[in-house]
Amino acid sequence: MRKPLIAANWKMNKTIAETQAFLDAFLPVVADVSDVEVIIAPPFTSLTAAAEKMKSSPAKLSAQNVFHEEKGAFTGEVSAAMLIDAGCEAVIIGHSERRHILKETDEAINKKIKAARAHGLEVIFCVGELLAEREAGKTNEVLRTQITAGLAGIPAEGIVVAYEPVWAIGTGKTASPETAQEAHAFIRSLLAEKYGNAAQQLRILYGGSVTPENIAGLMACPDIDGALVGGASLKPESFMQLVQFKR
Ligand code: PGA
Repeated sequence: MRKPLIAANWKMNKTIAETQAFLDAFLPVVADVSDVEVIIAPPFTSLTAAAEKMKSSPAKLSAQNVFHEEKGAFTGEVSAAMLIDAGCEAVIIGHSERRHILKETDEAINKKIKAARAHGLEVIFCVGELLAEREAGKTNEVLRTQITAGLAGIPAEGIVVAYEPVWAIGTGKTASPETAQEAHAFIRSLLAEKYGNAAQQLRILYGGSVTPENIAGLMACPDIDGALVGGASLKPESFMQLVQFKR
């Protein structure tokens, strides 16, 4: 059984005070939720304050990025050990905004995943095609390249894949459950080629304009095991509804 996972990706939003106010409102709601796993990824500057609030919560703290080196002259970068030190248990790697705005390559993403896993961080590894790639019929090809290169040399344990079609992120254009399921089933088949039976245990999240209104339809699909949520995770009320999608 794959436990549903709902993850909040706050991107470049929220000050420390805003992070604390969100968690004060949100954490009591998940205090005794055990049938859904919850991950929250604030910006770096809020991590330690969030860790303090989340100490006795079942919700896990995640970063949104990591650098592959251990330490040294890498201005502006943060290592996996530093994330652990700040209280993180997970990290998002390969988000499309990092791939397309910050020009991260599959090779860089692969190194980041290796570094994160070496330190025991759970990895939310993001993949997904651009609109032009979907329209050109290249979705599966793009997913195969991203998964093969991103996960090269990496064991299955501690990996969560997030399918985030770039055309659906922050646009209000959610993939239909059918479109998302088709991509998720393909991703699981790629994972099965690589990991065999272990692919059945791996969680594949959907991301891209997930809201309290559309989450139930997505979660009803057999290969959709959770959601990575941007915009709708910024308000405690809305993220609470997402976490309680079944009720
Ligand atoms: P969105 O973002 O929910 O605002 O579309 C999702 C993501 O980028 O992870």
